[in-house]
Amino acid sequence: MHRRPLIHAFAAAALAALMPPAHAADTGPIKIGLILPMTGQQASTGRQIDAAVKLWQAQNGNKAGGRNVEVILKDDASVPDNTRRLAQELVVNDKVAVLAGFGITPSAMATAPIATQSKTPMVVMAAATSAITEASPFIVRTSFTLPQAAVGLAEWAAKNKIKKVVTLVADYGPGFDAEKYFADRIVLNGGQVLDKLRTPLRAPDFAPVLQKVRDVNPDALFVFLPSGQGAAFMKQFAERGLDKSGIRLIATGDVTDDDQLADMGDVALGVVNSHHYSAAHDSPTNKKFVAAFQAANKFRPNFMAVGGYDGMRVIYNALNASKGATGEALLAAMKGQIFESPRGPVLIDGQTRDIVQDMYIRKVERVGGQLYNVEFDSIKAMKDPGKSK
Ligand code: PHB
Repeated sequence: MHRRPLIHAFAAAALAALMPPAHAADTGPIKIGLILPMTGQQASTGRQIDAAVKLWQAQNGNKAGGRNVEVILKDDASVPDNTRRLAQELVVNDKVAVLAGFGITPSAMATAPIATQSKTPMVVMAAATSAITEASPFIVRTSFTLPQAAVGLAEWAAKNKIKKVVTLVADYGPGFDAEKYFADRIVLNGGQVLDKLRTPLRAPDFAPVLQKVRDVNPDALFVFLPSGQGAAFMKQFAERGLDKSGIRLIATGDVTDDDQLADMGDVALGVVNSHHYSAAHDSPTNKKFVAAFQAANKFRPNFMAVGGYDGMRVIYNALNASKGATGEALLAAMKGQIFESPRGPVLIDGQTRDIVQDMYIRKVERVGGQLYNVEFDSIKAMKDPGKSK
């Protein structure tokens, strides 16, 4: 392991070479470096956020704080080394004022030191491990956290005769958060966690873990998988007859993702899950958002789209407040924002820079011939439970 110090030294030198950010004196366009997985396993996240960013600009113009706003989209294929390299190029060569996007936690974590070193606000629109906002004081999040999704669902389970559970999560940051916060709350309420199963982030095979679930035979199986894997999981769940086994399936809303839900079929019906956004959320703001999104795209917006749309709103609001100033002034103007999102009311916490929002308990139902996550309960103004350590 003689390579490590060298690599660290190289990384430090590369970071030190980052140019200081352009500041208020500039009058040219404000550039946003938007890094998304447009190809590869997480491509649906990129497609959703890109569409939402375009919708935001179509509706709100490309000026904020008196300056033109230019979005530079880069595809990292959800490979963290790509994300880091692209972020560095965007800061050094393109002189972006904001880094945004970040489809998965490892991509956000790989970029955090660049945001810190160059004092560039970094808006995390998708990734959802609790600790991300602690990786740089320049990170602001508009998505959600897995502890936010897991705790409310565990409470619901405890109140609905679910005593013995098995957890199944993707084997990386957000999965660890989902597993820990769900399991701890189940135990706190007197329940039992019979097994904790994990599948790899890349190309998971659900057959062996589903066999285990069948053998252990819990009251319920709790699942977190990142957006894009839900349909494949549901298919195998049904193929193995688990939907008829009496084992109740409950999940974070990532699994019953609006991007794929319409094509999941009856296996998804009745799945109780928890999340911050449903395309069926009943508010005038959301109805307008969904109608405009569907008029511009041939697909339904999911929670990733809303994270991207609100991320643009946070950037535009901040630019207007800072009168086009960037760097620390722009970051300061991102903190403490309160607005009505398509998901409901939200706050960007001034202390943690994380999102405070209503979390909903939903059930998959057929509405007008299509499957939707229909909200039936909510926890108001929830902070990230992962921050109270
Ligand atoms: C993440 O990597 O942080 C992530 C990705 C997709 C999700 C949730 C979390 O649906």
